[in-house]
Amino acid sequence: MEDIFGPGLLKGRVALVTGGGTGIGLSTATLLSTLGAHVVLAGRREDVVRDAADNIVAQGNAASSVQLDVRDYEQVAATIAGIVKDQGGLDILVNNAAGNFRCATEELSPNGWRTVVDIDLHGTFNCTRAAFDALSASPYTGRVVSIITSYGWSGWPGCAPAAAAKAGIQSLMRTLAVEWGDRNILCNSVAPGAIGDTEGAKRIHDDVGRGDHELSRVPVGRYGERDDIAAAVAYLVSPAGRYVNGTDLVVDGGRQFSFGTA
Ligand code: COA
Repeated sequence: MEDIFGPGLLKGRVALVTGGGTGIGLSTATLLSTLGAHVVLAGRREDVVRDAADNIVAQGNAASSVQLDVRDYEQVAATIAGIVKDQGGLDILVNNAAGNFRCATEELSPNGWRTVVDIDLHGTFNCTRAAFDALSASPYTGRVVSIITSYGWSGWPGCAPAAAAKAGIQSLMRTLAVEWGDRNILCNSVAPGAIGDTEGAKRIHDDVGRGDHELSRVPVGRYGERDDIAAAVAYLVSPAGRYVNGTDLVVDGGRQFSFGTA
């Protein structure tokens, strides 16, 4: 993907990617780093984000890591203050950290509901709110990109908390696009479809024997790749995305409109 975008496209930027140690978050952080950004990978497992950042540095790009639970606002605020102190600012926030599992809603405990909504929706609010001052001061125009899913608007049987939380994130990004449009910050969402080789796809498709069925619903005939999502984020945070604000960029091979066989 780095060959598609111009080298140095994101030179000088500092980017925070939550859930940056694995999956879509790691692919996004890796691509942003190859385009010249210093990426800070945040995640709950310190060894995972540290190893991931070390790998990026070993490839000759700039990265660091921080242990972070996005549910804890004080920790989030301290993390962002530390990034500003160490790196001189923050230009890009990618809200990628998420939790999800399949569970019939009539069997879901209130704490199960709360846990997913806390990570996805409240975690996104915490990071976005805490990053306001730094993003607003960015010389490149601050960017917030939140990873959601088209199931946020279609509903997601078996994943009610994640669907509701992602719908909430979509709404938050739209609200902030208007509130913060004249505060030097652009806010958008990226909605991945079925992305192979991710924990999410494994949990909600493969583990419950729905892999082939999900593939049959994708018009372009393949699962997405993590780099497809990384590329969408790179576009939105680059100068090419300077007039894109409040949109949901759906990257799903057309699946959201595939209601059945023709
Ligand atoms: N089915 C039903 N309930 C579940 C569950 C499942 N598969 N997994 C967890 N829960 C419930 C727990 O039972 C608990 O509720 P209880 O106290 O009423 O029993 C509640 O959720 C919290 O579980 P816990 O394991 O303590 O939370 P956690 O903060 O350690 O983990 C999760 C958060 C549950 C979201 C975990 O799956 C996670 O961390 N996932 C991150 C990775 C991921 O999901 N990636 C894919 C993103 S699409």
